[in-house]
Amino acid sequence: MKRKILLGVTGSIAAYKSAEIASGLTQAGYNVQVVMTASAVKFITPLTLETITKNKVYVDMFIDEDHTQVTHITLATESDLILIAPATYNMIAKTATGIADNLLSAILAAANWDRVIFAPAMNANMYHNPINLQNIEKLQQHGCNFIEPDEGMLACGTTGKGRLKNVPAILEAVEGYFCEKILTNRKVLISAGATREYIDPIRFISNTSTGLMGVSLAKACRNMGADVTLVLANSPLEVNGVKIIRVDTVAQMREEVIREFKNTDYAFAAAAVSDYKPKAYSQSKIKKTGEAMSLEFEENIDILAELGHLKQKQVLIGFAAESDDLFKNARTKLEKKSLDMIIANNLSNFAANDGKVWLITSDKTVELEKRPKEKLAYDIVRTILKVGD
Ligand SMILES: Cc1cc2nc3c(=O)[nH]c(=O)nc-3n(C[C@H](O)[C@H](O)[C@H](O)COP(=O)(O)O)c2cc1C
Repeated sequence: MKRKILLGVTGSIAAYKSAEIASGLTQAGYNVQVVMTASAVKFITPLTLETITKNKVYVDMFIDEDHTQVTHITLATESDLILIAPATYNMIAKTATGIADNLLSAILAAANWDRVIFAPAMNANMYHNPINLQNIEKLQQHGCNFIEPDEGMLACGTTGKGRLKNVPAILEAVEGYFCEKILTNRKVLISAGATREYIDPIRFISNTSTGLMGVSLAKACRNMGADVTLVLANSPLEVNGVKIIRVDTVAQMREEVIREFKNTDYAFAAAAVSDYKPKAYSQSKIKKTGEAMSLEFEENIDILAELGHLKQKQVLIGFAAESDDLFKNARTKLEKKSLDMIIANNLSNFAANDGKVWLITSDKTVELEKRPKEKLAYDIVRTILKVGD
C-alpha cells in the first residue's frame, strides 16, 4: 500500500514550489493529500495541486459536504507524514503556541509531532526574529522536524536566510524520514571522486570517476541515521546533512582520511585515486619545444593499505574496478590490504549512473542486482550489515 503524505501549503511566496514538491512525491510513489491555507490559495490554485496529486485539495474546515468523518482528525491521524512546505512564520507560530483556527493548524494540533516536517520559507528578518527561532526550538523539542531554509536572494529583494530549501533536498528529507535507521549512532567515512596528480600548475593526470557512487553511499548512510564524513575529490556533486571535505590530490585525500579514520565505525574507500604520479613536477608551465616529450611516473602512496594497517574496530570496505579477472583481483586486494569487504565491479560502472556489483568477504560473495547507484547504495549498506552480523 502507498504511504500517505499530507502536504500542507501555507501563504508564502514560495507556495508555487509546492507544485514541484507534490509532483516529486507523487512520482516517488506516495499518495499525496494537499491541505492549503486561505492565504496559500492566493499564491497557487487548488486546481494545480489537485491535478498533480489526483486527490481533492482541502482548504476550508467547514465547507465539506461529508460530515460522517471529522476531516481534520482523520487527515491528522491517517497520514504517515505531514510535510508543511512552505511553512510560514504564522503557521509555525500558531503550531508552537497552540492555535487551531483553520483546517491546517487544527490538523497540526491533532497530529503526532514526530511525523511532522516543517520547511520554513520567509524573509530573513522574520526567520531570525527571536520569537520564530524560539518557536522552532520549542517544536523541535516536542519532536517536530525542520528542514533549514537556504541563504540567498529572497523574493522581497534582500538576501539572507529564509529561502525554502531546494525541492530535491526536500524530497530527499522525505526519503530519509522513511528510511530504516539501522546506522543510528554510527560514524561513517567515505572517500569519493577522482584525485589529480599535477604535471605542472595547470596540467594533471586523473580518471573519469564522477564520485556518484560515494555520494550515493553518503546519502544512504545519512538517511539510515549515520553521522557521515565525505572526503570528496574533484566532484561538483553536493550532499546535504553530511560533513564534506573537498580535496584535490592523493596526498590531500590521505591527510583528511587518516585524520577522520580513528573515530569511524565504517569506512568506504570509493575514491578513484591515482596509483601513479609524475616523478617530477614543473613549477612553471611546460612549454612546447617541437620535440616529443615523455613523462616518468612513480608509484603513489596507498591510502587503503595504510588504513588496513591502522584498522582497529573499524569495518573497512574497499572498491575494486577491474577490466579483467574481477573476482581474482578483488580477492587479492581484499587480502593484501586487510579489508573486511570489497565491492567488486566492472570498469563499465565507471562514470555510469547504474551499477552492478558483488560484495566479497573472506568467505562470501554476494551478487547485488544492477540498479541506479542512488538505489544500489542502500542495497550495499543493507548487505554489509547483514553479512557482518
Ligand atoms: C506577496 C506576499 C508574500 C509573502 N511571503 C511570505 C513568506 O514567504 N513567508 C511568510 O511567513 N509569510 C509570507 N507572507 C505573509 C503571509 O502570507 C501571512 O503572514 C499570512 O497570514 C500567512 O497565512 P498562513 O500561515 O495561514 O498561510 C507573504 C505575504 C505576501 C502578500
